[in-house]
Amino acid sequence: MSERATWATRVGFLVAAIGSAVGLGNIWQFPFKTASNGGAVFLVVYLVAVVGIGLPALLAEFVVGRKTKANAVDAFRKLGHPRWRVIGAFGAFIGFWIVSYYSVVGGWVGRYFIGSVTGGYFDAPGQYFGAIATGPEAILFHGLFMTATVTVVALGVNSGIERATKVMVPGIVVMMLGLAVWAATQSGAAAGYSYFLNPDFSTLLANAGDVVPFAVGQAFFTLSLGMAIMITYSSYVGEDTSLFVDGGVIVVMNTLIGVLAGLVVFPVLFANGIDPNTTKAEAIFVAMANAFSQVPGGRLLGMVFFGVVLIAALSSAISLMEVVVSYATDHSTVSRPRLAVLTGTVLFVMGLPSAWDTAWLGWFDTLAYKLFLPLSVLLLLLFVGWVLADEAVEQLLLGSDTGWLGPVWLWTVRTVVVLAVVATLALGLETLLLGGDIVPPV
Ligand code: PFF
Repeated sequence: MSERATWATRVGFLVAAIGSAVGLGNIWQFPFKTASNGGAVFLVVYLVAVVGIGLPALLAEFVVGRKTKANAVDAFRKLGHPRWRVIGAFGAFIGFWIVSYYSVVGGWVGRYFIGSVTGGYFDAPGQYFGAIATGPEAILFHGLFMTATVTVVALGVNSGIERATKVMVPGIVVMMLGLAVWAATQSGAAAGYSYFLNPDFSTLLANAGDVVPFAVGQAFFTLSLGMAIMITYSSYVGEDTSLFVDGGVIVVMNTLIGVLAGLVVFPVLFANGIDPNTTKAEAIFVAMANAFSQVPGGRLLGMVFFGVVLIAALSSAISLMEVVVSYATDHSTVSRPRLAVLTGTVLFVMGLPSAWDTAWLGWFDTLAYKLFLPLSVLLLLLFVGWVLADEAVEQLLLGSDTGWLGPVWLWTVRTVVVLAVVATLALGLETLLLGGDIVPPV
């Protein structure tokens, strides 16, 4: 067994956890899912889900990780509940499932980065996406993205991940703020704000089977929950750290970046006469390409923007690979670089269908949101709330001076949060089965 690393500094953990949380989930998925699910209604349900379900669940993962100081599978054995290690294994499976197509989207970002350098998308920003999103070129860039991920993981936890993520988080916030201010000056932007910020609740009931599972799934996806990631990351955290404070910081930063992405994408789409309902997965790409083709210095801005998003995507993909490599290095003598290459190869092969045809990407994505993520989080909540129970509260309160929050958290997790996730799962399953989305697009 190799010696376990710890974060060089407390900020190191925070930055890495934010690095895992902030990624394509905020910048690509969030505008995409908002556009596909009615705009502002989705935003409201998502915000409620982040605070009401995401944060308590994040704390639950932190408790398991910090208490055991083990990888996400062995953690449950160490706690004396070996059967529950299925949560860790299921989480790692979901991580694989998601990163396989996440890497394809990461490849698109890489392609847009190069498109910014060469000016490739500047003449016809609306058409570029269709030209690069699928087929051999998408496979090539998916492979390049995976290679970059493997390289960072092979370098090790402190040197690789901390260094890469420290520059990224402030970079994204600054870029997004600047773009949001610019977007506000565009004529026609007002309709974008209205679409994004002014909810029409009358549509919620009719579309609840999509809006609720996708919004709750978005909260999980974007906080890297249900994938054993936050368990693994918090296993490196010291007991003098307040998990409430760190959890709160992560949730706030993460949500801020998603909402900022929306404040850029929707005004730009409307200003260019593009109906968000028709854009879906390409929303962010089409909006940004349009923006950069109009602003002075657009090429440079495009390079910076897609460059920053690329780092954000990488730091998230890295976090998943870290889960797998952490488990494997605890159990074998195979070297970290080799394990990273092996994991990357499996992920690359799994992602091939999604790179070939976006119908596959949609299938992987829908199943992750509506079935796998809620199921995985539900199991964890049941375990932490009902099996660990008081032990969990005790662990949660180490390093914190807000003791009264412990029981509040426990009872919320046990009741309201569990019920909300069960309801979400039921809604999602219903539409999955009735709509036939569960069948792969062969
Ligand atoms: N939280 C990441 C994001 O919002 O982009 C998503 C993510 C997915 C991270 C899969 C890690 C992962 F393995």
